[in-house]
Amino acid sequence: MPEATPITVAYGDGIGPEIMEATLKILAEAKANIKIDTIEVGAVEYQRGHSSGIAPKSWETLRRNKIMLKAPITTPQGGGYKSLNVTMRKSLGLFANVRPVTTYHPFVKTMHPKMDMVIVRENEEDLYAGIEHRQTQDAVQCLKLITRSGSEKIIRYAFEYAVANGRKKVTCMSKDNIMKMADGLFHRVFDEVGAEYPGIEKDHYIIDIGAARIAAKPDIFDVIVTQNLYGDIISDIAAEVSGSVGLAGSSNIGQDFAMFEAIHGSAPDIAGKNMANPSGLLNAAVMMLIHIGDKKAATMVQNAWLKTIEDGIHTGDIYNAETSKEKVGTREFARAVMDRMGEQPIKLAAVNFELTENKGPIRVELKPRKAQKKELVGIDVFLDWNGQNPQEIGERINAFSTDRLKLKLITNRGLKVWPETPAGVNLYDHWRCRFVAGEDAKTITHQDIASLIGKYAEAGLDFIKTEHLYNFDGERGYSQAQGE
Ligand code: NAI
Repeated sequence: MPEATPITVAYGDGIGPEIMEATLKILAEAKANIKIDTIEVGAVEYQRGHSSGIAPKSWETLRRNKIMLKAPITTPQGGGYKSLNVTMRKSLGLFANVRPVTTYHPFVKTMHPKMDMVIVRENEEDLYAGIEHRQTQDAVQCLKLITRSGSEKIIRYAFEYAVANGRKKVTCMSKDNIMKMADGLFHRVFDEVGAEYPGIEKDHYIIDIGAARIAAKPDIFDVIVTQNLYGDIISDIAAEVSGSVGLAGSSNIGQDFAMFEAIHGSAPDIAGKNMANPSGLLNAAVMMLIHIGDKKAATMVQNAWLKTIEDGIHTGDIYNAETSKEKVGTREFARAVMDRMGEQPIKLAAVNFELTENKGPIRVELKPRKAQKKELVGIDVFLDWNGQNPQEIGERINAFSTDRLKLKLITNRGLKVWPETPAGVNLYDHWRCRFVAGEDAKTITHQDIASLIGKYAEAGLDFIKTEHLYNFDGERGYSQAQGE
């Protein structure tokens, strides 16, 4: 027998301890070849003063073991500590969040018996970078950061995943009709990378209709690749459509580390009541066993679990008088799975992971790219100003124009209001003044910007941030204003 694989385990918050206990008992019954190192994370660590929700020595354990099974953690909403989940995913480079969602028809009630999709969600960037600023009395900004390399990494991963798992189609979801640059980049990279996979069908949905189709016609999807926020939302939709958010597990994969967890949260409403469905975490644990190569235990656990579902032994979230036989609690459900260890489902398809070829974890390599010529051609200066007359502020700021750097337009909350002001426009305290290089100058320097900002300071105007306008190989690297 090979040496046991060390696994870091965190029991988390809310229903976390209950579902983790159930899961570990089932893994022990299957004689999973793992050695468990338990760490504490979440609420208890926040209370101990570790503002990241994890103690430094636990990071050591995590980095040493490289594999983690984690129960959900409660993250304060609308304020308080930063999400430990997001911190972990970023610190360990867990760029791919893989969320398979399938149905267990007719045993778990669903309107879509044929649904079988895998959502591959980008895990490190997007709005989850958590870079937020309050800029004026009225306006708060959250930065959506999308990189070409981050997009390429997740999209390549999705295609490689499709190939490795015999999947036929990869669908990209984005909102590139509105975020033409950020989501446009993601879609463009999808088209570029997709061209390298002629054997895989490809399509693209704008995220709103894509999400609606997941709810209404989920069986049309196979692998879906998308950005962080969209992926978070659509995987909960998909899991609920399949029967319950309590069913789906996920893996968070990086080049060196992997973390496995349920897709749902800590469900404080049912915590401590022996009501939670441990299936999401158990399915994540099966993904973990496959990842570490213990396919025997993975197969046993999955089949025993399928048999339990098939026998109608269901937790409250999936209990249904027509298809269920017995409504059980978390502990009793775990017991039922343990009692079926070694059995196989009869109607649901039994699995045998031992038959699958051992290709090892999916690795992705980015294509080298040639350096582009970057030219500074202007600047947006953002202003906190309470006035109501765009012509007044336009006149004051236009006085800062020089031959090298000229005021081109002013927008208010993104809408162009100077030189022309549309009738009946609502005004807010968030103004953007766009300066561009003069006809003769073509490009500008940081010195030009410094002297412009100096003029704002001298005039006592409250500039709140600047964004530089660049061209890359002559192509505009910034969006136009609405109405420009
Ligand atoms: P949630 O997923 O915890 O709960 C949503 C609903 O689904 C609740 O009605 C809950 O009772 C039910 N539910 C969830 N898991 C279930 C299970 N295994 N069995 C039966 N019912 C289940 O989402 P919510 O309420 O939005 O978030 C609660 C907390 O969890 C928040 O602090 C949030 O930040 C955190 N969270 C943590 C995650 C993680 O650690 N990976 C992921 C998502 C949320």
